[in-house]
Amino acid sequence: MTGTEWWRTAVIYQIYPRSFADANGDGMGDLAGIRSRLPQLAELGVDAIWLSPFYTSPQRDAGYDVADYCDVDPLFGTLADYDEMQAAAHALGIRVIVDIVPNHSSSDHPWFQAALAAGHGSPERAHYIFRDGSGENGDLPPNNWQSVFGGNAWTRVIEPDGTAGQWYLHLFDSTQPDFDWDNEWVRSQFRGVLRFWLDRGVDGFRVDVAHGMIKAKGLPDYTPPAEGGSMGGAGALEPGVVADPIATAPYWAQDGVHDIYRDWRLVLDEYEGDRILAAEAWVDPLEHVARWVRADEMHQAFNFAYLETPWKADDLRSVIDRSLAAFSAVGAPSTWVLSNHDVVRHASRLALTADNLQGHGIGPNTVGLPDTVVGLRRARAASALMLSLPGSSYLYQGEELGLPEVVDLPDASREDPTWFRTNGERYGRDGCRVPIPWEADGPSYGFGPTAASWLPQPGMWAGLARDQQDGVADSTLELYKLALTLRRENFLGLGSVEWLDSPSDDVIVFRNGNVVVVANTGDQPIELPAGDILLASGAVDGRTLPGDTTVWLSA
Ligand code: BGC
Repeated sequence: MTGTEWWRTAVIYQIYPRSFADANGDGMGDLAGIRSRLPQLAELGVDAIWLSPFYTSPQRDAGYDVADYCDVDPLFGTLADYDEMQAAAHALGIRVIVDIVPNHSSSDHPWFQAALAAGHGSPERAHYIFRDGSGENGDLPPNNWQSVFGGNAWTRVIEPDGTAGQWYLHLFDSTQPDFDWDNEWVRSQFRGVLRFWLDRGVDGFRVDVAHGMIKAKGLPDYTPPAEGGSMGGAGALEPGVVADPIATAPYWAQDGVHDIYRDWRLVLDEYEGDRILAAEAWVDPLEHVARWVRADEMHQAFNFAYLETPWKADDLRSVIDRSLAAFSAVGAPSTWVLSNHDVVRHASRLALTADNLQGHGIGPNTVGLPDTVVGLRRARAASALMLSLPGSSYLYQGEELGLPEVVDLPDASREDPTWFRTNGERYGRDGCRVPIPWEADGPSYGFGPTAASWLPQPGMWAGLARDQQDGVADSTLELYKLALTLRRENFLGLGSVEWLDSPSDDVIVFRNGNVVVVANTGDQPIELPAGDILLASGAVDGRTLPGDTTVWLSA
């Protein structure tokens, strides 16, 4: 594939392999399943897929706990299955981005096992962050850091001689020990991992926790400015937080992380074909995120500020302006995203009636659960708005079907470590990870050939299944297909945003090239400006645009 800076305008579809398509019927999605469904993604019109981890893993954090960076977990298939899937994607003109998880490995990884066995002061221990405990007998953690998933960020080990010994740092689950990225051996190993997948032909990497790999010297204590829980850690993106946690948290957004990406960029640049790095960096504000995509670093960074913006005209206008300004200041495209495997699906999130901290999830006892009809209307309107914006957009599997968060999962089926580490206080992320429906009548709604599904699927999946929406004029699937077609035909990804007069505080109106976009975030109908309606996220009566609806007009 030739290099054309395709990523500047690409629509990239996130596949969560566990829940996309299951070819062998064991209830867990797999690479052969992904391959079998690629034609439907080509039909949807996406430019690339990003696959969450499918590597060897004990699955304590759904694969974000990697025990071998260069092999496929048998749950998902084999390296040969990966190659076949990638070749099939490329044959359809779809690029393939894989996830890389460099902040931590699984505690099952041979490198960590070697560190445990080699003991105090060994070179093997220096690959991770081991420290002696505090307190008289070293039986207190070395500092006060908390895990993003809840509870302490340190776990004490039993030394080879059977005594209680050092502690290791894990910003996430205790089965996810953090690497010490000041260690040159760690850096060289990961260059090797990049090359392994680049040699296989991947088009890029989504870099997990790209803001966390370097910790402040001396690992000082940290007192968060507000109650936290987001992936950014203590309060990073929570509304109402005054102190800038990025300036203070000793484990997020340390300057040293950028040296790592400059180094990685050199590795990618050795390869032909426009391979990319995309940062998962939950940092705030956007000007700070832009540091990850300076000319000699990564290509894209997820725009979580956009994801976290409520469905309100003023806020949306402001975040769009700030995003375009911040990213273009460093020559990078803005990205846009509304859902992923870590957040409440936007068909539910946009209609929540009470605050919900990112990463906490929603469940039966959540206050302010959404009205599903309002949620779907807003989600369709929000997606139509997002797909009209210049830059690159990320979609999360199932949003093209309008899937809501599943709120009534039985507790016994939950797998997210957040649920266990908070004793059920936070539901966590399982509700957005339920295997998706392809066929109303199939066992497991077409997810696989049997009824097995690693998380139970709700009955409403029948009505939302892809085969119920395919070719049905007003379906969410057809809305996405039309949006992607018009986006491509009108070069919206390459365009710009020119704000136009708005008839109401609840409405945003702008022109991107040949298209005028009108998004009504309120509940009062408005009169549409001139122009043929090219796309509407909901029913439009003549020239009256109802609330929670977005239209694209010919300019
Ligand atoms: C991933 C999560 C994962 C965490 C730890 C993230 O930000 O997106 O799903 O639990 O990193 O790897």
